[in-house]
Amino acid sequence: TIQTKYTILSRSFINLIYKKRNAFAHKGSNGHCLLLAGSFGKTGAAILAAKACLRTGTGLLTVGLTQENIPIMQTVVPEAMCINREQAFDTTIYTTIAIGPGLGINEANTQLMMSVLQAFRAPIVLDADAITIIANYPVLKNFIPKGAILTPHPKEFDRLFGKTGNDVERIEKAILNAANLQCYIILKGHHTFIACPDGSGYFNNTGNAGLAKGGSGDVLTGMLAALLAQGYTPLHAALFGVYLHGLAADTALASQSMESMIATDLIEHISTAYYEIN
Ligand code: APR
Ligand code: MG
Repeated sequence: TIQTKYTILSRSFINLIYKKRNAFAHKGSNGHCLLLAGSFGKTGAAILAAKACLRTGTGLLTVGLTQENIPIMQTVVPEAMCINREQAFDTTIYTTIAIGPGLGINEANTQLMMSVLQAFRAPIVLDADAITIIANYPVLKNFIPKGAILTPHPKEFDRLFGKTGNDVERIEKAILNAANLQCYIILKGHHTFIACPDGSGYFNNTGNAGLAKGGSGDVLTGMLAALLAQGYTPLHAALFGVYLHGLAADTALASQSMESMIATDLIEHISTAYYEIN
């Protein structure tokens, strides 16, 4: 059995993790994210993740889309570069890859997952449909690189690791699987739990029910990618990212209610969340 140590994330601990931006920084020193996301009818997931990634501080962002989504992304998010992910592309130029939001579950994306997981060793974020694709093709589990960050909501978690009865069971299973796969599992929910490969675990206490809306998870994925790109270790990216995401929702309450808040508001409050930590 694993001896688990649980910690509740505190502001003072988060302040220690925060990497102050280097005054001499240039776009090349803040990393280059590749975001593989979006499909027809779920382009919004890619847009939200892309905007959140940019607002969290990545130096460069390229989004891998289907051809029809490229003009949409170029119009809505001019800061992002775009590639057609259905054509061959070089992964080695990216600091990190995030894959999954609104990606779609189909043969092309299963092939894409296969090649990304095999070719790319640097830290990656696996979310949403990327997790479901791995659940559908369990052999892919063996290719999850060490240090990867997985961000399942409870249903995605159960799809990947088997049915659990309740949150306590899910937390125990997250710890076991984080150790087995040597990866970080962010079990999303009201008190998001972060399971680490060494058997330790962290509870987050920022965030509010304004996050209980489609799109909040896509924002988190973009934020995590940006932190990895800026050189945060996967552990620090996971802890800092989850905390900052919740804090953005908490600071959004200054001008929004939990009912009115939408994922776009969350993105627009990443700035105020950073002010609080700085
Ligand atoms: N309190 C605090 N945080 C919350 C709460 C709450 N009551 N409810 C949700 N959250 C946070 C979670 O911790 C997580 O960070 O909001 C985020 C929700 O993430 P997801 O469940 O992944 O939701 P999202 O991805 O935005 O939903 C859209 O998810 O199920 C998939 O494919 C499906 O299209 C859907 C997509
Ligand atoms: Mg999601």
